[in-house]
Amino acid sequence: MTRAFPDGFLWGAATAAHQVEGNNLNNDWWQLEQVAVGYIDASGDALDSYHRYREDMQLLAASGLSTYRFSIEWARIEPLPGQFSRAELGHYRRMIETAFELGLTPVVTLHHFTHPIWFGERGGWLAEDAAEIFVRYVEQACTILDGVEWVCTINEPNVVAMNHGAARIMAAGNPYPTKPWPDPEIGRALIAAHLASAPVVRSLTKAKVGWTIANQAFTPTDGAEEKYAEVVHEWEDMYLEAARGDDFVGVQSYTSQPIDENGVVPHPEDPGNTLMGWAYRPDALGIAIRHTKDVVGDVPIVVTENGIATGDDERRIEYTTGALTGMLDAIDDGIDVRGYLHWSLLDNFEWGRWHPTFGLIAVDRETFVRQPKASLGWLGGIARANALP
Ligand code: BGC
Repeated sequence: MTRAFPDGFLWGAATAAHQVEGNNLNNDWWQLEQVAVGYIDASGDALDSYHRYREDMQLLAASGLSTYRFSIEWARIEPLPGQFSRAELGHYRRMIETAFELGLTPVVTLHHFTHPIWFGERGGWLAEDAAEIFVRYVEQACTILDGVEWVCTINEPNVVAMNHGAARIMAAGNPYPTKPWPDPEIGRALIAAHLASAPVVRSLTKAKVGWTIANQAFTPTDGAEEKYAEVVHEWEDMYLEAARGDDFVGVQSYTSQPIDENGVVPHPEDPGNTLMGWAYRPDALGIAIRHTKDVVGDVPIVVTENGIATGDDERRIEYTTGALTGMLDAIDDGIDVRGYLHWSLLDNFEWGRWHPTFGLIAVDRETFVRQPKASLGWLGGIARANALP
């Protein structure tokens, strides 16, 4: 039996600038990689996608997938406060045009985890005028978005609030928190930046605009319903609530975690865990989609990230089959899901680590030769059929 997806469903894969481009010298992640030598891996040349993006997109298109989600790098476009690089804007315009030329639908993310170093030095998201500064960048980004139909303002603001919250705790002289938590004050600043920038993108382009939220598919253990409600609000729901006026909301799902009376239960050690140490939970995507719908209401959903870090490509196919099944069940129950973008197109820089491989394509990091895995052709086949066998 085959099960079909809705007509016009977007099928694709995603990447982010810092994880694939290489030599992003002017952002805060590059800076961190230089001070944390020996503790984390550095991005270095990454996959040299800054120069090889056409090949990446060709491989994606040849597989049968037809949508490419990628991000543009703020630190390249605005290397100094208020100084915009026409050349770098031109670079990203060429990427968009390459996508059109290859028949791909580009989904453009304006901010994916990295910030220009100068933005951090002036107080980051907690500076009083952070939203204005972000909007000034977004206005410039809009000059290259002609023809783009899908724009994500900020990727996983809840994870940004978590990482920057941890940095804030450490800056106050405390050790790295063992239970990271999205800092709600930083979260509110990010919400303000989204609510200020999304209407600007709508007014300057014809794109549908939204943001993409990390969904942890939390489930309460017996009797922990109250704690669950409290945790879920600060982890996800405050960001989802801010998407109620958007044209779409991005669901990003990898795993699921229980919440007990003490809060989020860490993933138990298990040989079945993924290379991230996360529980193997193909069913997480269905839970995440349903939770998003419950909070956001009738805003269309795009799965903007879902995937697994594994060295075993068969397992990637098995995981993704489970995730797609959960997504189809949600669609059959009437939830408006418009697309599925796998994370990731390429084995890339996993934020300080190279070993968790999420890609549909392997990359030799010395020669930069790309080697498609079986999962790429498999997912492309589902895209062509627009159905799950
Ligand atoms: C991020 C990606 C990341 C992936 C796997 C998401 O949190 O948007 O940049 O590589 O999950 O950890």
